[in-house]
Amino acid sequence: MTAQVIKGHIVDAPALGELKITENGYLVSENGRIEGIFPELPEAYHGAPVTDYGDRLFMPSFADMHMHAPQYAMLGMGMDLPLLDWLNTYTFKTEARFKDTAYAREVYRALAKEMIDNGTTRVCAFSSLHRDSTMVLMEEFEKAGMTGCVGKVNMDRNSGDILTETTEESMRETRAWLDEASDKFEHIKPILTPRFTPTCTNELMAFLGKLAQERNLPVQSHLSENTSEIAWVKELHSDCAQYWESYAKYGLFNERTVMAHCVHSDERERNAMKENGVWVAHCPDSNINLISGVAPVRVMMNEGVRVTLGSDIAGGALLAMPQVVTSAIRASKMKRIQTDWTDEFLTVAEAFYLGTTAGAKFFGANGGFAKGDKLHAVVVDDSAFPKTAKELSVKERFERALYLMTKRDIIAVYSDGRKVK
Ligand code: GUN
Ligand code: FE
Repeated sequence: MTAQVIKGHIVDAPALGELKITENGYLVSENGRIEGIFPELPEAYHGAPVTDYGDRLFMPSFADMHMHAPQYAMLGMGMDLPLLDWLNTYTFKTEARFKDTAYAREVYRALAKEMIDNGTTRVCAFSSLHRDSTMVLMEEFEKAGMTGCVGKVNMDRNSGDILTETTEESMRETRAWLDEASDKFEHIKPILTPRFTPTCTNELMAFLGKLAQERNLPVQSHLSENTSEIAWVKELHSDCAQYWESYAKYGLFNERTVMAHCVHSDERERNAMKENGVWVAHCPDSNINLISGVAPVRVMMNEGVRVTLGSDIAGGALLAMPQVVTSAIRASKMKRIQTDWTDEFLTVAEAFYLGTTAGAKFFGANGGFAKGDKLHAVVVDDSAFPKTAKELSVKERFERALYLMTKRDIIAVYSDGRKVK
């Protein structure tokens, strides 16, 4: 018998703004793949083993679609500078230490555990430029039960002596890394990672665009995060009317591309993202910490741009995705104030969709607890939350859990059909 039955209050967000709740429901999976959610257990599964989570909440786990693994070492630090100064003063120094693979092992093992403990099972991560440490990150993610993509960072200019490659080195190391990493891990795959336009020469960008096409690889980078960054890109690429074109002209802007931030993307740039099928990773906590601005998420969604969420640690200081989800709601309320109350803020159901289903779709899943998807889920025990005057509905409990849950309350995590916590 390969069927598995899970019982609990099942909540998911199969579509934007839609919350589906099955109280005391049954989730059936076969070989780790979801068969369905049922209010009563169908006859056919009466013999299957049941994991009964009782009165607890059972919901999809989270997708962190943009984060910097080495920056875990500086989490919560250096929050007093905007992007370009922040990179030069703190970030490049932190990442330079990842030349040391033993240090990388220690940090990445702790990071992987922390992410799983907090309910993140899908990730799009930047490593550092170091090939060996990038392999260490992939290994530690794989071992911890994470799924998704990791990128060796490419950067061959404008990052000082401590953290740079020659163009030739960057190309050689990237090829060697892909040869080693492409088929080595079941759940963690490579993603091409030009850090951002200012740190990548045209020659390197052209190489990466060609490689992406030849090997059919996904791509991740940063776009229009900060106004000084945008002005700099304009100087570096005077032939491009807008920042996105510095990626697009090298074939690095398509339906397999994740672009972080897009805080200052205007209508033309947003339209380019939509037309090219680019995925946005909105990183609300980072955008506020680094004083970048508030991304126009509601407008992007209305226009049909695909939006997902990222922690962007350590620009973001929140590794736990439930907190990133609620930060996205808070940021959207700031945006509502800034737009004279025209942009509607994100509802809990919408923000939860962005943090779960939207990211899962990048990896080819249908999202939510869709039939045929591998099971990615968390079990939340909300019994330690404050005692309320009245009994709460499951919907109210779910909304409160998003705001309040910590790793202590996440009592089990499933990733790719396996129990990993
Ligand atoms: N742009 C280029 N590198 C980075 C980084 O490490 N963090 C953020 N937030 N933006 C970047
Ligand atoms: Fe980033």
